[in-house]
Amino acid sequence: MKRMSGYPEYMQESLRLVEKTRPERIGKTFPAMTAEEKERILRDWHPDYKEESKRPLRIGPCKGQVMPHEVADILEAHPAITPDEIDLTDIAYDLDVLVIGAGGAGLSAALLAHENGVERDRILMVQKLRLGDANSKMSQGGIQAADAPDDSPTLHYLDVIGGGHFANDPDLVEALVKEGPDVIKWHEELGVIYDKNPDGTMQLAPGGGTCRRRMHSCKDYTGLEITRVLVDEFLNREIPYVEFTCAVELLMDDKGQVAGSVLYDLDSDEYLIARAKSTVLATGGFGRLHIQGFETTNHYGATGDGIALAYHVGARLRDLDSTQFHPTGAAYPEQIVGQLCTEKLRGRGAQPVNKYGELFVYPLETRDVEASAIIRECYERENGVVTPTGMRGVWLDTPLIDIINGEGTIEREFAAMFRNFKKFDIDIREEPMLVFPTLHYQNGGVAINTRSETSIPGLYAAGEVAGGVHGKNRLMGNSQLDLYVFGRRAGRFAAERAKKISLGKLTLSHLDRYERWLAEAGIETDRRAPILLPEYRGKRTLEHQLKLL
Ligand code: FUM
Repeated sequence: MKRMSGYPEYMQESLRLVEKTRPERIGKTFPAMTAEEKERILRDWHPDYKEESKRPLRIGPCKGQVMPHEVADILEAHPAITPDEIDLTDIAYDLDVLVIGAGGAGLSAALLAHENGVERDRILMVQKLRLGDANSKMSQGGIQAADAPDDSPTLHYLDVIGGGHFANDPDLVEALVKEGPDVIKWHEELGVIYDKNPDGTMQLAPGGGTCRRRMHSCKDYTGLEITRVLVDEFLNREIPYVEFTCAVELLMDDKGQVAGSVLYDLDSDEYLIARAKSTVLATGGFGRLHIQGFETTNHYGATGDGIALAYHVGARLRDLDSTQFHPTGAAYPEQIVGQLCTEKLRGRGAQPVNKYGELFVYPLETRDVEASAIIRECYERENGVVTPTGMRGVWLDTPLIDIINGEGTIEREFAAMFRNFKKFDIDIREEPMLVFPTLHYQNGGVAINTRSETSIPGLYAAGEVAGGVHGKNRLMGNSQLDLYVFGRRAGRFAAERAKKISLGKLTLSHLDRYERWLAEAGIETDRRAPILLPEYRGKRTLEHQLKLL
């Protein structure tokens, strides 16, 4: 009987080749690349290494830092508001701690500010979409923490630093890896249900660039489960929050401290002043800037607002030259192009194979190297499968997962992915997925120290908006950990600061200074930032595939 397939007829010949080569690929692997091979493939094929895709920033304290044009564009844009539109005497919220962003880092910061003595009514969390709408919630494969008997924070540290091309801030990495096991305990105490072995120990998987099995997961919706629990805890504590309210600018005071934010209520169309002794930026990354036209795994609000806001007040930025392209975004069907196909699939045995069913790369290279190998396979060797819209992709041979780990593994461990593809008549137990790299993560961001403090007093940053933890390439599962390690620190130290300091007179004079920087650099533009929501009208992001060469 002919099997139901969600793939078009013309892909069937290639699918037959994948099926044919599968038995001989079981138990075989592909040699990992040498350091020289990695360097070469990154230079030749990784999108980040295309010099013409970036430029040096022309204004402010980080003038000269190189970054993607799309990021430089928002930093070289006019602020979204002008001082004369805003009445700074009309204070809507008077706070100790303002948290901007309600993903994993924001929720952790709010909880820890509360635990560290800030009255709940002196905290406010603002979110431009809904509570919990963030990349954190969309994380699939897991969270790293070195809590297994054969593992240690030292090994974790070496993996993070090596994966980041030795560009990470060593103090931040030390904090990350040492606090990993404690974060997992905290989650479990709050109610997160991690996957366990029958003997009650953690079920751990490997990830690209990890020397130990260190990935803790909740099936393939790890971020959703953790967010569920943190949101419950947050709501139980009755900490105030507002949704559909954007931070359009940071406030300063006349002592040079960040002193809260100008908010914009999307429902009432009003500006609101939130004065705060400490402000935590937990605004996530910039995936929706679609760097180089790439599709993205990111949620709708990931428009790089935090880096724009922080730069307006003169905060130091770092590593923004480095963007993460996840090796396996969906390339087919069209409705889900760019969506994440978790690295855990490869961790559990799925192999990337070309249109002839040949394995062409070690499946668990670090993300940048794995992504480069897939792009090379499609664009140099021409061994990719072309989709009806002209995208190219390689197969991720998922049926191997059940063959290697036992029937039922996919349904049990990849419940979300299984269901997502089934909607399109693709049964990933029987047929592979077609994948291509997708824009996944902002490796750099606002520079912080181990207290999550930025270079501007009163401003904290945590999670994807912050830079330094991951250097030039993040490893899987370390962003989930980063959120809670530095989100918790931001909340704790923001609370401590709020007890000690007093605010001066509010001002938006930094916006005049920003306008001067733009004028002095001769920048003429209609752009404004933060952009808050992405603009898709008239744009065709899929065209990037044709521009890659
Ligand atoms: O592949 C994944 O599940 C993604 C995880 C991450 O970015 O950490």
